[in-house]
Amino acid sequence: MPDAKPTLDHEQIPAKLGTEFITQFYRLLKGATLYDRKSVVIDRLTQECLQVVNGIIQWEGKILLRIVRDHFFFNDTPILASADKYPIFKAFWQEMRKRRIGRMEFSEGASGEHLKDLAYLLSGLEENHENNYLAIKKQLEQRNIRSVDVGKLEVSRNEEIEIDSEDRKKYSREVYFRSIGLAKEVVESIHQQKPLPIRKAKRLMQKAANAVMQDDSTLLGLANIKNYDESTFNHSVNVAIYAMALGQRIGIPKKHLSHLGMAGLFHDIGKTKIPEEILNKTEGLSPEERSIMRSHPVIGAELIMRMKEWGELSARMTEGAFEHHLRYDLTGYPRPAQKKKMTLFGRIVSIGNFYDALARPRVSPRFPYVSEKILEIMLERSGKDFDSGILKVFINMIGAFPLGTLALLNTHELGIVTRIQEDTELLDRPKVCLIYYSDGEYRKGKVVDLGEMDEVSGDFKKSIVKTLDPNEYNINVAEYFI
Ligand SMILES: [Fe+2]
Repeated sequence: MPDAKPTLDHEQIPAKLGTEFITQFYRLLKGATLYDRKSVVIDRLTQECLQVVNGIIQWEGKILLRIVRDHFFFNDTPILASADKYPIFKAFWQEMRKRRIGRMEFSEGASGEHLKDLAYLLSGLEENHENNYLAIKKQLEQRNIRSVDVGKLEVSRNEEIEIDSEDRKKYSREVYFRSIGLAKEVVESIHQQKPLPIRKAKRLMQKAANAVMQDDSTLLGLANIKNYDESTFNHSVNVAIYAMALGQRIGIPKKHLSHLGMAGLFHDIGKTKIPEEILNKTEGLSPEERSIMRSHPVIGAELIMRMKEWGELSARMTEGAFEHHLRYDLTGYPRPAQKKKMTLFGRIVSIGNFYDALARPRVSPRFPYVSEKILEIMLERSGKDFDSGILKVFINMIGAFPLGTLALLNTHELGIVTRIQEDTELLDRPKVCLIYYSDGEYRKGKVVDLGEMDEVSGDFKKSIVKTLDPNEYNINVAEYFI
């Protein structure tokens, strides 16, 4: 809030104010796409936004937000999103880019009605029209609004503006299934003592990093839905995806995201040297067997170090393999010789590994842990087993109801979670695809936003009552999700 400003470090002020503005304005813009202008929800969102806008104008004299490539500049200072606001920044950036608006300006005199006008004008724009900004300027002029202005998004020639969301989904699906194929190929290569397909893996993880940067919801959804393949192969791919999606949210640059993907993909490579009969035993390992099993991180690190083809990746790969069962307080295994902090890659991969290992279906019981339970276990171990800062980002990323969750709504409808909200305040209110039973089978219905409110009462229209096991209902979640 603006009154907290004087206590801030001078350099943090633009970032904090910019974040407040983007968050509130994004909520209003999203509201404008969902609700009628006269609804109580819009009134509330407008008031909240106006409060922030007025506070900033009082303090700074103006608000000038610009988008330059993938960065925001707030009153001429580049600002970065904090991890919890990252999804909102990204969603807002996407919304503005597809409308080709690259600049917004507010000065003294901006009223709630002006903000509302702008939000509805923006929400009504057609996508990818270069002259959208002119249309808005004209409208603002006609309404005699002088305290609000917008400008064109400047795009350099080789910049891609917007990929169709269906194409993006398709691309992500392809990357996911090709990665599973690759994980299989890696294991077979080791067993047959053939060279590893490292270049192929690097290219694929670069593609995966691209997909994550564009929109990670399809990949995260696929990782959450475990029932695709034999567990070892999709486990490596899932860990790679969790690691990259997490890395993106904590600000790891794109080039290093693909490295993180590689570290995730190969983290369990040491398991290829563990005898099958130990590997496949689900319970009752003898102490000797357990110690053999627990040697896989060391074996993996050695395997990686022996190969020359990694190049600059070598150290990063070793971190993923060696540290993925290590805990943040350096318990876990293998015990490191020196008391050295876990590496960033190790901390990220270990979180993805732990979550995915617990989330996958075993033979019996088929549905061992629901996500909520796993996240609860992880939260209990925050700061001990896991880096608390990174864990917090991970929990927000997975959400209260992860992608692919089958849920019962208070309206007695069934739905499958297809999108987590960008706004962390709405983490328990994802978008769900309704499914209904007719003619002897389940069918896909419309997608509803559980963040949507009733326009008169201001209460949420639909809520999740509880989650259900899709196996019990014979529902193949994947069919509805992708
Ligand atoms: Fe492992």
